Amino acid sequence: MSLDERQPPIVALDFSEPADARSLVERLSPEDCRLKIGKELFVSAGPSLVGEWVDAGWDVFLDLKFHDIPNTVAGACRAAARLGVWMLNVHALGGRAMMQSAMEGLEAGSPVGRDRPLLTAVTVLTSHDADSLAEVGVMGTPEEAVSRLARLADEAGLDGVVCSAQEAMLVEGQVKRPFRRVTPGIRPRGAAMDDQSRILTPAEALAAGATDLVVGRPVTRAKDPVAVLQAIRHEMGFTTSD
Ligand code: C5P
Repeated sequence: MSLDERQPPIVALDFSEPADARSLVERLSPEDCRLKIGKELFVSAGPSLVGEWVDAGWDVFLDLKFHDIPNTVAGACRAAARLGVWMLNVHALGGRAMMQSAMEGLEAGSPVGRDRPLLTAVTVLTSHDADSLAEVGVMGTPEEAVSRLARLADEAGLDGVVCSAQEAMLVEGQVKRPFRRVTPGIRPRGAAMDDQSRILTPAEALAAGATDLVVGRPVTRAKDPVAVLQAIRHEMGFTTSD
C-alpha cells in the first residue's frame, strides 16, 4: 500500500482486561481500522492475543517502544516479526546502531514470502518539555530533538516515526523518502481531551502531514464505538465502501 493512499485509523486498545479488548475488537472490522497493542494489554494478555488477531486478518501495531542494547532489541524484533505484526516501534534515542539492528532482527524473523513488519521510532515522548529533556541531557527545544531524531531514524532505514500531529510537518521536511508519521493525540471535534494536551481533529492531523492516525479513548470509551469510528473514517475521507 502506497503512502499516497489513505491509511485506515489505528485504534489504541488501552485496556487492562483482555476480555474488554476482545469484546471491542469483535465489533470492529479489519477493513475499517487497525489495532494498536501497548504495554498494558501485552503484559496482561501476552503474545497469544497478538497471534489470534493476526490470524484473524488484523493489522496489529505492537507499541512496545523497545530501547535497549542493539543485540537485545534485534532479538525482540525477530520475535515480533515471527508473530506476524504489521508494525512495531523503538525509541530513536536508542541510537543508530540499535535501530539498524532492529531492522536486521525484523528481516531475520519474517517468515519467507511475507513482508517484514514496518518499523517506526518514537522521537521525543509528548510528555517531555524542554526542561525535562535538559534534565536527561537532551539540549535544545523538543522540536529540535524531534527533527534530529527523525533524520537519524531515516538514515537508519526505518519506515517512519511516531510523533505528535503538530510535529508531522516538521518531520516531513527532514526526511528524504516516503516516511510514515504515526500520530496519537487525535480527537474528533467535541470529544474529551482526556490527558492529551495538544490535540488535532482527524482532518487537521491529515492536513498537517500525519499519515497514520492513532485514536484510543474517543473510540474505546464511547457508548457506540462503531459509530465513532465510522465518523472518524468519514472525516478522513473514507466512504463506507472503502
Ligand atoms: O486514548 P488516546 O487517543 O489518547 O490514546 C493515544 C494512544 O497513543 C495511547 O495508546 C498512548 O499510549 C499513545 N501515545 C501517545 N503519545 C505518544 C506516543 C504514544 O498518546 N507520544
